[in-house]
Amino acid sequence: MRDFEVSIDVAIVGGRIVTDSWSGEGTVVVSGGRVLAVLDPSVSIESIGAARVIDASGKLVMPGGVDPHCHLAIPLGAFVTLDSFASASSAAIAGGTTTIVDFAIPAIGEDPITALDNKKEMAQESRCDYSFHGCLNSKPDDVKHVIESFAERGVRTVKLFTTYRGELMVDVNTIEDVMVALKTVGGLTYVHAEENSAIEAAQEEAATAGCIDARHMAGSRPPEAEDEAVRQVLSIAERVDAPVYFVHQSTPGAVGLVLAARQRGVSAFSESCPHYLTLDDSCYEGPNPERYVCCPPIRGAGTVAQLVELANQRLIDTVGSDHCCYSAVQKSQSAHDVRLMPNGLPGVETRLPIIWSSLVHNGGLSAEGFVALVSSNPARLNGLYPRKGTIEPGSDADIVIFDPSESRVVTINDLHMDTDYTPYEGRTVTGWPTDVLLRGVLVMESGELVDRGPMGEFIPAEMIGGR
Ligand code: URP
Ligand code: ZN
Ligand code: ZN
Repeated sequence: MRDFEVSIDVAIVGGRIVTDSWSGEGTVVVSGGRVLAVLDPSVSIESIGAARVIDASGKLVMPGGVDPHCHLAIPLGAFVTLDSFASASSAAIAGGTTTIVDFAIPAIGEDPITALDNKKEMAQESRCDYSFHGCLNSKPDDVKHVIESFAERGVRTVKLFTTYRGELMVDVNTIEDVMVALKTVGGLTYVHAEENSAIEAAQEEAATAGCIDARHMAGSRPPEAEDEAVRQVLSIAERVDAPVYFVHQSTPGAVGLVLAARQRGVSAFSESCPHYLTLDDSCYEGPNPERYVCCPPIRGAGTVAQLVELANQRLIDTVGSDHCCYSAVQKSQSAHDVRLMPNGLPGVETRLPIIWSSLVHNGGLSAEGFVALVSSNPARLNGLYPRKGTIEPGSDADIVIFDPSESRVVTINDLHMDTDYTPYEGRTVTGWPTDVLLRGVLVMESGELVDRGPMGEFIPAEMIGGR
């Protein structure tokens, strides 16, 4: 018998373990919800004495996905996004994600700390682990106090918007003050960067030309507007020497600005999303173009190819879903005018399979690079690493067993998100999770969700050190 001083709950044998920095055959030993050891495959199963042995032969054993960008049950524009924490977290698990990071966006005039506390209350029903970004949609009297209150509550990332005037947009002074305050608590400013006046001008021009319906979404929010806002926000970060993270980047130009800033010593980070990496703007020419309306919009095929190349080279830091669920009817109601439409796409469940299939199975991204994008870097850039985002002694036993050769045709009928469409309907996707462990407990087994009730825990963010 191997001399473990604690009882062994689970041993995962026969698979190829993949982290962001290495991969190889091995056995993962789990005790008390944590990874106890990663053993050489030559160690006999009998000697481990595990209560349960999971055979992962032919499969990959990866850290559970960490989705850094989810909008659950939040009023945005005319509607409240559809998913509850119960449904979105179940969908997350079905797609191989074990931790979601949601945005506590205050209503206009609402105190941002109250918004966070309310969100924490709602999250009690979560099936997977979760964390939060704070959000400011106006400048509080005492920014430092608000940021310190977030940090006391285990929140060290705060999202700011340079667009959506009258709803979410803040000015450059607020951005600067938040960056300075977050720096003192080891935090990180998350920015939705699109230069608002350029967008409003493009939209007005489109409306005058009669081209403001969903078919013309791509032209209504030009790539130059994204690049310009990234440039402006980076210059603030550089001046105050504070880290910054750009959500849902859709252009190689925007990512290139981040990379150039990093060369100059700025701690700057890029997130992109499955839809910017695997769809192109021809989706606005087909049926139901409104189902693809999101901000920034889906870009042209040439832009997408360049963005994918950056991801392949591991020059994009994270892939978040930007999960923002509306029904097909809600999406269609204002499809004649994208300025009135609910923005955003469902994606928490499809994030891992879509990225694996397009970028790894059919593309040039390594398995290690995949883990970095969907798990390790999101964990690092949310202060959750190494508790989340890796498989090493001491980390939470959040593990996805992934069959890289399983092909399925995506259909909303098989998915668990609280909506009635997926942007990937009919796409053949190769690479799906088969089994998922959350802190050592099987929450998906042989492709079937096992609902253990609301076992998700809030994971407070530690100081964020970067990648
Ligand atoms: O279109 C999007 N991305 N909707 C969600 C809200 C946001 O801007 O992230
Ligand atoms: Zn955004
Ligand atoms: Zn978003």
